[in-house]
Amino acid sequence: MDRFSEKLDVLKKKGRFRTLDCPKGIDLSSNDYLGLSAHPALRAAAISFLQMGGDIGSAGSRLLRGHTQTHEQLEEFSARFFAAEKTLFFSCGFQANMALFTALPGRHDTVIFDAYIHASARDGVQAGHAQHIRVPHNDVQAYEEALRRAAMRGGQIWIAVESVYSMDGDKAPLEELYALAVQYDAVLVVDEAHATGVFGTGGRGRAFALVQRHGYERIITLHTCGKAVGVAGGLVCGRAEIIDYLVNAARPFIYSTAPMPLQAFLVQKSLELIDGDEGRIRREELQNLCVLAQKLFGGAGTQIIPLLVGDEIHAVNIAQKMQQSGYDIRAIRPPSVPEGTARLRLSLSAKLDIEALKKVSELWQGFILERAA
Ligand SMILES: Cc1ncc(COP(=O)(O)O)c(C=O)c1O
Repeated sequence: MDRFSEKLDVLKKKGRFRTLDCPKGIDLSSNDYLGLSAHPALRAAAISFLQMGGDIGSAGSRLLRGHTQTHEQLEEFSARFFAAEKTLFFSCGFQANMALFTALPGRHDTVIFDAYIHASARDGVQAGHAQHIRVPHNDVQAYEEALRRAAMRGGQIWIAVESVYSMDGDKAPLEELYALAVQYDAVLVVDEAHATGVFGTGGRGRAFALVQRHGYERIITLHTCGKAVGVAGGLVCGRAEIIDYLVNAARPFIYSTAPMPLQAFLVQKSLELIDGDEGRIRREELQNLCVLAQKLFGGAGTQIIPLLVGDEIHAVNIAQKMQQSGYDIRAIRPPSVPEGTARLRLSLSAKLDIEALKKVSELWQGFILERAA
């Protein structure tokens, strides 16, 4: 057992030791982009669901007794919402990515994935049977080169990207990637974790424009429900065959207790909010903050702003100082981000006060000047 203390000591020396810290101060680190996680309408919906006799636990896997009308209703609703033939609800996005990449790509297939793709997709690919090619982040030429190589091998090609990258906040070039997918007869799997609720018509994500034009013939989308949706879960959208196959073959889906019915109910309520005036207004508020944040800090103009520090210990120190000043900002270190790119990850929420953002910018400028001196 000593080896674990040794390993922990190494992490401590490198500034990589992680601890669990409850929220304190003004939120600039959660993924609650629309501020829905504590929305009164969702609280009221939760209470009324339980008062009407709705179940808390699902008490079984989906293929056994854990599948309820509430799950069914959410999946039917979300299929209409995302214009998909079918959708499948998972307990979380991590599980959904594991399911997608372990079940769908076969031994003769190739998965081409972006270097910055989330750990859940990467772990799914690693645990799956297909060959895989990692391409430099958002490098369309490198994608094409990888597609050429994969096409020579034969088998189905899968391209795995995030529509908005979780640690850099930049966007995948979806139109170009879709055109390449058509050219090489590949399937584009778009993780909309950080775009759902925020981008696209009524918050349907960045790939929705492609879906409207081309359908899900060669697109699969994943919408996590614990970020802007404010609840928890993951919805996979696609053609009926894809969803039916996941139900029959995806081990993370089959061998796991179904999500709580309450969770499924609240995800549906939240999607209704997101699609309505409340969602539209919150998206506008968030967009105004994004414009201001880009002026103050640079970045890609989305709700995720990386403030690069480089050194891990330094990043942790700056984050601590931000926290002492009342701002809940966290340091992100390898392996969550590449070596040498430790950073503060600012994430904006529609409910954030503009003055708080300006104050954080002043503090950040102060740290930059301190470092330069
Ligand atoms: C891009 C991306 N995909 C998937 C996930 C996993 O989603 P969940 O938190 O619902 O498990 C995350 C979580 O941070 C993410 O950022």
